[in-house]
Amino acid sequence: MDKMIIDNIEYRITGSETILDSAKVLDIEIPTLCHNEHIKPYGACRLCLVEVALKSNPEAAKLMPACTTLADPNYIIKTKSERIQKARHFIMEMLLSRCPESNEIKALAEKIGVYSSENNRTKDYLLNRAASYTDTKCILCGLCVRVCDEITERYALGFSGRGMKRRVNTPFDKISDSCIGCGSCAYVCPTKTITLEEA
Ligand code: FES
Repeated sequence: MDKMIIDNIEYRITGSETILDSAKVLDIEIPTLCHNEHIKPYGACRLCLVEVALKSNPEAAKLMPACTTLADPNYIIKTKSERIQKARHFIMEMLLSRCPESNEIKALAEKIGVYSSENNRTKDYLLNRAASYTDTKCILCGLCVRVCDEITERYALGFSGRGMKRRVNTPFDKISDSCIGCGSCAYVCPTKTITLEEA
């Protein structure tokens, strides 16, 4: 069978795997935020975007999330092009604007080169934007909802609303009877929007 090409390396796909899985086998690092290998991929944060082109039309590459796109022998993948770096920078700036105090977001932003703990100018600029944009730190990555559904099987959280009004909450905005207070949602939340409190 033909091999997929990823960063100029020929790669033989072994089964049903995503581009992110293939990259891991090849030790190619792709940044992720909403991905957790124990739950189904969701494709919310878009940080894992890569360029995907068909071998039959290599000039027409599209940006696609590596965590939700299945590997295919007809693909030529680039994970580090200038176009990808620009897209990741833009997404990272938005995430950092929304929750500039999140250590997980800051660490990722520093790795990508959007934020420097030693560069206060960058930090102040983003903090000012954050103040005018939003009053919540939730980035709608859905990790809390998916962990509650797929790992603890309590279904105590979900999304409501659309567009700017979309948010994570409990059914009908009430304390959910199915919640057992296990704290899984708080544990996986990258921005610490969810915290546990004594009842
Ligand atoms: S890690 Fe792929 S979209 Fe978030």
